Amino acid sequence: ISERRENAANLLDGLPAGIQKILQTCSLLSEKLDIPVYLVGGMVRDMLLGRENRDIDLVIEGEIKSFLQELADELEAEYQFHERFQTGTLTLSGEYNLDLARARSEFYPSPGARPQVEQAGLLEDLFRRDFTINAMAVELSREKYGLLYDFFGACADLDRKYIRALHRFSFLDDPTRIIRGLKYALELDFHIEEETEKLMDEALKRGDFSRLKLNRVFQELKDLVRSYHNHQRFAALMHRLPAFKLLAYDFEFDRERWESWEDLSESLEYLCSRDYNIKEWGVKLAFLLENMPFAYRDRLSLSEEVADLLDFLAGIDDFIAELERDDDPVSLNENLSRLSPEKLALLYFLAPDQKFRETLEYFVEELAGAGLSIDGNDMLELGLDPGPAVQEVLDQVWAEYLQGGVAGREEQLKLAARLIRERNGG
Ligand code: CTP
Repeated sequence: ISERRENAANLLDGLPAGIQKILQTCSLLSEKLDIPVYLVGGMVRDMLLGRENRDIDLVIEGEIKSFLQELADELEAEYQFHERFQTGTLTLSGEYNLDLARARSEFYPSPGARPQVEQAGLLEDLFRRDFTINAMAVELSREKYGLLYDFFGACADLDRKYIRALHRFSFLDDPTRIIRGLKYALELDFHIEEETEKLMDEALKRGDFSRLKLNRVFQELKDLVRSYHNHQRFAALMHRLPAFKLLAYDFEFDRERWESWEDLSESLEYLCSRDYNIKEWGVKLAFLLENMPFAYRDRLSLSEEVADLLDFLAGIDDFIAELERDDDPVSLNENLSRLSPEKLALLYFLAPDQKFRETLEYFVEELAGAGLSIDGNDMLELGLDPGPAVQEVLDQVWAEYLQGGVAGREEQLKLAARLIRERNGG
């Protein structure tokens, strides 16, 4: 291990004032209690990259409880302390999160199992982490404030834009790191270093993840689909390293699907440009997990939203057939207005042909958001008694409107008056 130390105090000084205040308070406490304290993980990485990050992760070489208590006092914050894990969290009122942990080393008895944990120093604590770029520390102790520890060549990896695992067992220890690696590659626009990619590939091929907590995998997949913008690159990376296999080893995602992945972004863009407010990650995740064996779903604690989208996808062929059968504007409007924007996006993306797509565009452009220029009060003024008849007449005018007739208020009133007369036997 070649240790590299340099001064990053000027970078700390460039952080937002709120973060600086917290770090300086840590610095004073570190001196007072005579305990070394370090800023670690994502914030160090992002500070060097000039990216914003709101999660302050601290590692302490020593007892954490009194440090946590005093820090909470100084910052007038609530705190939680987990005796067993020797970790703590501060609930800060501003927009920052703060996690604190005693420096520790980890040993994984088998792939994906819970690690056994032991007290250790900073170096071992950093060595248990996922990637070099996440394994740097900045000292906060008073006289060494701002000293950057880079034991694993992370600064060079940042320069070369490399995602590199710290050691060859990293993905066997914790396979969810494969997904994290893809996430960083996409989010930071970095490459996965060759040897690291080989290790990921081997871990995925080995496929012995029976002890993996599937909801953790799902959580990381969710973060992954939230993080990327480049669909082509996402498809290429996931094709090479199909990380969703961590959920179910025999789960395949066919080639054609990957090739059409880019069209998904076009569908989303089209609907967004028409003022649809779509939760894109939900759409992407549902599409990614569509073919997942059903038995796994229960073990994932899927949110209702995603489960609902998966159910929709399971029945989408029948739904499309129904829409093709009843394609008059009234049924079309009735069937499509019921859909959430996410379902509409999936339907648009999976449209079997151009004609179907045009039908959906017709709905989006002409029908959705349209409304009559008359309402129930007009019906009463036209002499109708309050009651179900009001809605019935409005529905009849609406049906006519959807067929392309009665565009303006005058015409709609005229039609309504005629319908009311007919009802009254006139
Ligand atoms: N970590 C790890 N293996 C994991 C998860 C996390 O080694 N499976 C380590 C990494 O060093 C990471 C740190 O724990 O930097 C904190 O995890 P997390 O908050 O998830 O990541 P950050 O890098 O802090 O932040 P983000 O990815 O959200 O930018």
